[in-house]
Amino acid sequence: MAETLIAPSILSADFAALGAEVRAMTAAGADWLHIDVMDGHFVPNLTIGPDVLRCLRPHSDLPFDVHLMVAPVDAHLEAFARAGADLITVHAEAGPHLDRSLQAIRGLGCRAGVALCPATPADAVAHVLDRVDLILAMTVNPGFGGQAFIPAQGGKIARLRAMIGDRPIRLQVDGGINPETAAMAVRTGADVLVAGSALFRGGAQAYADNIRRLRLAAGEA
Ligand code: DX5
Ligand code: ZN
Repeated sequence: MAETLIAPSILSADFAALGAEVRAMTAAGADWLHIDVMDGHFVPNLTIGPDVLRCLRPHSDLPFDVHLMVAPVDAHLEAFARAGADLITVHAEAGPHLDRSLQAIRGLGCRAGVALCPATPADAVAHVLDRVDLILAMTVNPGFGGQAFIPAQGGKIARLRAMIGDRPIRLQVDGGINPETAAMAVRTGADVLVAGSALFRGGAQAYADNIRRLRLAAGEA
């Protein structure tokens, strides 16, 4: 399996100092930056849009991993691609034309991801495996940072890993990830760990240590 990647979710950053937060997390050794976009419709919260992404782009060379919790989503894909997204993930539950959305993302020159809410079965991605570079198994119900990891997702993570087989598809987990839950997620097959509250705690001087602790847990899994 590929090396485990750490993707801090800027949802837990200080929104009044986002540029500095992104620079600090980049310097601290993150692999990707995870950007949570919420529309107040698909999920009960509002966050940021493509203009914020565009302003953050000069602050980091890391891949921008954009998680769109937006429905309908197709009309927004181009704006996020232009703003500097490297990878764009859409939810399988966000509309009836997932296959089309995934083709559109690749057509815009980005890598494509598909996310599954906790109640959505792994089989929802069975017929789009050739269209994706990443599968995101949500380990909380999307909408807010700081929620508790749902242990019952372990079986789904393992099932998704088996479905991926030897395809070059990353398997990401997002929600309630900390050193304890990360070990479980990696053991069952995850290779990209998104974490917000566990990585942004303690202020910028703690970020490198927070990342190190998560990497250690993943390595020992
Ligand atoms: C939840 C978001 C997550 C969230 C993770 O809807 O997709 O990325 O920020 O935050 P923690 O790690 O605090 O659960
Ligand atoms: Zn997310």
